[in-house]
Amino acid sequence: MAFEIHIINGPNLNLLGQREPEIYGHETLSDIEALCQKRCKDNGANLVFSQSNDEGKLVDLIQQSRTSAGGVIINAGAYTHTSIALHDALKSLECPIIEVHLSNIFARESFRHHSYISPLAKAVICGLGSRGYLVAIDALSEQSHDEGK
Ligand code: DQA
Repeated sequence: MAFEIHIINGPNLNLLGQREPEIYGHETLSDIEALCQKRCKDNGANLVFSQSNDEGKLVDLIQQSRTSAGGVIINAGAYTHTSIALHDALKSLECPIIEVHLSNIFARESFRHHSYISPLAKAVICGLGSRGYLVAIDALSEQSHDEGK
């Protein structure tokens, strides 16, 4: 069975390309999904890509990844900084989690400096724009190859 990577995106990321392009760039979420699809294909991995503005739906998406995902990449948007529910859901996963942010959250407002996700993450990538997702895909793919999955 191919290694499966789940990429879960949180609130407002559906507006990428339109929302604050000086911070988040001009690529849309569909552009990023296409880049991620290609990188997963090149790495021999299957991709499940999702986005929701709803905290409960994000909990459902994380729970769904429990059974099939070999790795989870999450950009939880603003819920990164507020959500104990997402923290608890991610804690139930056994696979590696990589936290991604397009912007460098540490160079921004202080309320973005705390993450409920980072303590559970194998790695945190922020400030590389869409490239951060690709770095995360490569890291998870390489780890799965090393482990012979
Ligand atoms: C973000 C950073 C968050 O602080 C913000 O609320 C977002 C996007 C990023 O990708 O840079 O919605 O997660």
